[in-house]
Amino acid sequence: MNEKSWTKDVAPAEFIENAKNFQDLIMQYRCAIREVQTKLEVLDDEFSVEYKRNPISFIKTRIKKPQSIFDKLQRMGLEFSIENIQKYLNDVAGIRVVCAFVDDIYWIVDLITQQDDIKVLKVKDYIKNPKPSGYRSYHMVVEIPVFFSKGKTPMKVELQIRTNGMDFWATLEHQLRYKKGIEEIPGYDHISAQLQHCAQAVMDADTEMQKMKNQIGHFNEI
Ligand code: GTP
Ligand code: MG
Repeated sequence: MNEKSWTKDVAPAEFIENAKNFQDLIMQYRCAIREVQTKLEVLDDEFSVEYKRNPISFIKTRIKKPQSIFDKLQRMGLEFSIENIQKYLNDVAGIRVVCAFVDDIYWIVDLITQQDDIKVLKVKDYIKNPKPSGYRSYHMVVEIPVFFSKGKTPMKVELQIRTNGMDFWATLEHQLRYKKGIEEIPGYDHISAQLQHCAQAVMDADTEMQKMKNQIGHFNEI
């Protein structure tokens, strides 16, 4: 490695400035995630005191990796810039909310939508309309104001809300398919059909669990 290329004397000022601005942007997305995550935890907390169970099983957060941000902008025919990231990418900040029952998903969606500092920019209900793969989840892109020293900045956060069953399927399906050229292997069509079959089995189990919950009296209050 050329040692010299890593000293700040030779690094172009523009590169340093861009890197700083990018780090700043990522910090802002991290803060936006914290804001939304707190809202979700507050709802879960309040619910558990009232109804003695947690509608949210767990929450996972992630920031899109610089390489993935770069690749996505390139696929969209856009250059890598702070403005393009903010304007065109909805999923730099991601929160996955995994719930107990299907009803809990819609309960969270309603309560997050009602909060007056949250603006819902986009909704995709892959529970009512599953993807051809069999994928189910409720997707939302929200905008939330984050208060920094320089002022208020609206930030986008993508929410994926799903049951434990939907998450189980999506995680395993992703692991099975996550390989370049997987479509070329012999018997791929059959594997796709099997994955759809498993998605249906999970959906049936979710529906049955929800029905049982509806039958059990004290859950009906909510
Ligand atoms: P992206 O550019 O991929 O973000 O697509 P999009 O903006 O059209 O979003 P979409 O609503 O399709 O959701 C994309 C995200 O949902 C992916 O990054 C995955 O996390 C998840 N997802 C969508 N389809 C599938 C699927 O068939 N299987 C699995 N495991 N996850 C999926
Ligand atoms: Mg995405």
